[in-house]
Amino acid sequence: MTTLDLIGSSPRFRAVLTEVARIAPVDSAVLIQGETGTGKEVIARAIHEASPRRNNRFVALNCAAIPSALLESELFGHERGAFTGACAQTKGRFQMADGGTLFLDEIGDMPLELQPKLLRVLQEREFERLGSTQTVRVNVRVLAATNQDLAELVAKKLFRADLFYRLNVLPICLPPLRERVQDILPLTEFFVAKFAARLNKPIDLIPDEVVEVLKAHDWPGNIRELQNCIERAVLFSPGSVLRVPLDMTQTVKQRSESASRTLADANREHILETLKQTNWMIGGQDGAANRLGLPRTTLIFRMRKLGIETRRALAPRPIQQLADEQCRAAASC
Ligand SMILES: Nc1ncnc2c1ncn2[C@@H]1O[C@H](COP(=O)(O)OP(=O)(O)OP(=O)(O)O)[C@@H](O)[C@H]1O
Ligand SMILES: [Mg+2]
Repeated sequence: MTTLDLIGSSPRFRAVLTEVARIAPVDSAVLIQGETGTGKEVIARAIHEASPRRNNRFVALNCAAIPSALLESELFGHERGAFTGACAQTKGRFQMADGGTLFLDEIGDMPLELQPKLLRVLQEREFERLGSTQTVRVNVRVLAATNQDLAELVAKKLFRADLFYRLNVLPICLPPLRERVQDILPLTEFFVAKFAARLNKPIDLIPDEVVEVLKAHDWPGNIRELQNCIERAVLFSPGSVLRVPLDMTQTVKQRSESASRTLADANREHILETLKQTNWMIGGQDGAANRLGLPRTTLIFRMRKLGIETRRALAPRPIQQLADEQCRAAASC
């Protein structure tokens, strides 16, 4: 069992926690929707921890991070010789999560051809490993998450309607941080304490004007962006008084404007703005991926999806910088 940091006392967040308590004891699928960084995985873990399955495994799989050709084997496992390179029988995530919970992140990226097999295991609790005719039965609760509009994907025939309804038995919608401004101060205090301890950099005071700047920001990257911002702020504050980066104080909240934009537009603009600030550098300590709190590969994936030219960002960089990035990437593996 793990302890979860679930900070927030706004009415919107308390309503989410009430939902978590209500749906945790049952076994139906849950669809957690919300913008990037709103805490979908945190809430999935909270559901597992509050459920009777808490003493069994919580297995997570990001459907967008696995090439579609490998996803079936990753989910359902394979027999020896099922495909080139399959040198031993392998259990998939469904079997690993038997008795526990399987969290399917970025479910909107599940390839259409795999969706019937997922639907079957949700309905019948059975499947076959790749290359096998033997049926495997499992007892797994599925929690799925997405920051895409699944209903819209269904309308565009990019996601199966039957699977959508099956997953959407218990929907949870996480509010964006800009709609729960009341939580910004407790979250800031929590992250300041966390990073002050981690970076060995005591911070005694969060000035009111800093809190006002944080409350006025739009936070398109939500809690992850706030967390990242506070990490940088703790690191770069000259003394024990928290200071936020200048570029933030210049960011004016444009709620009325953002309300008329689509989520994709907002994400696109935010990524472009961050790339501009980092001179189109994606990786590295000062790169856009780090500022946005995303792994470099995830940012590149999102840029491609949003039609942002990656070539410019990936233009030749000094050899030392590339070497540094590769060292860091290797170190984080
Ligand atoms: N209520 C909370 N209290 C404290 N930290 C939180 C809370 N919610 C989220 N976080 C932190 O914010 C970060 C983002 O959360 P999480 O990964 O769950 O978001 P997400 O919605 O799954 O994002 P994405 O769509 O990009 O995958 C994590 O570091 C998480 O620990
Ligand atoms: Mg996530």
